[in-house]
Amino acid sequence: MAKESMWALLIFVAAIRGSLAGIPREIHLLRPRSGSAGERVHGLSCLSWRLGVETNNIKNWTTVPLECEGYVGHYMLGHQYREDSKVVAREAVLYAKSLKLAGDGKDVWVFDVDETLLSNLPYYAKHGFGAEPYNSTLFNQWVLTGKAPALPETLELYRELLKLGIKPILLTGRTEDQRKITSSNLRNAGFGNWEMLILKGSAYSGTTAVVYKSSERRKVEESGYRIVGNIGDQWSDLLGIHAGNRTFKLPDPMYYIS
Ligand SMILES: *[C@@H]1O[C@H](CO)[C@@H](O)[C@H](O)[C@H]1NC(C)=O
Ligand SMILES: *[C@@H]1O[C@H](CO)[C@@H](O)[C@H](O)[C@H]1NC(C)=O
Ligand SMILES: *[C@@H]1O[C@H](CO)[C@@H](O)[C@H](O)[C@H]1NC(C)=O
Repeated sequence: MAKESMWALLIFVAAIRGSLAGIPREIHLLRPRSGSAGERVHGLSCLSWRLGVETNNIKNWTTVPLECEGYVGHYMLGHQYREDSKVVAREAVLYAKSLKLAGDGKDVWVFDVDETLLSNLPYYAKHGFGAEPYNSTLFNQWVLTGKAPALPETLELYRELLKLGIKPILLTGRTEDQRKITSSNLRNAGFGNWEMLILKGSAYSGTTAVVYKSSERRKVEESGYRIVGNIGDQWSDLLGIHAGNRTFKLPDPMYYIS
């Protein structure tokens, strides 16, 4: 079977077996291979490549090396991606519970959206898990379906933080014209009660995510909030100024945004 139709079949099977919250099911359909190094690329194993990108030692890469498409696909759809996300969310909850909060409603947590609250895995599974060059037209078409499922581990973190009285601030590279669909997608996926949803306005077009996100976080803190935590799948969510008292990096070996 051709590779594309194999992924399509897996996604299809997942879709008929469960909801899109079907991500948990969808990603257990493959036998995880993440313990293995997979193919080799530029003299490195794909596992070493993934470690390099997760640690931000490898920067500004544009696509997943072709040799690693299968490796990344198995990682994303297998157990390991979930296990890795679970550790991040667990540490974040432990940290949040350890905080002595002022209780004045000004403690906030910054969340990125894509590959943090929402998963675009149904899209990326059809587009080579990041091995195909990014196509904004196609990706925005997917965004406009509003069907991205929640990342279950982050959803749990989100709920825990709300219980603790820490307010979510959503800060995304999605653009202002995508506000309506993004809000409804988030609500349908189980997220609600956020304090702010900040989307990228046209004033920032052409600027990097680090610049845009730093600037928006600065405004948030200048208006009296305290960013106690910050979570994202990209280093550009977590670097820069006003990054928050602690940052948490979720896995994402599919794409890099500077
Ligand atoms: C990566 O891209 C950023 C933003 O364009 C740039 O500032 C930086 O120098 C680049 N880093 C490397 C290692 O190429
Ligand atoms: C993106 O995909 C569309 C639809 O397949 C195609 O027409 C377009 O040329 C692609 N753009 C790029 C930059 O590859
Ligand atoms: C959080 O960071 C701010 C700014 O750096 C600092 O003033 C504050 O003491 C930190 N809070 C905690 C609980 O560490």
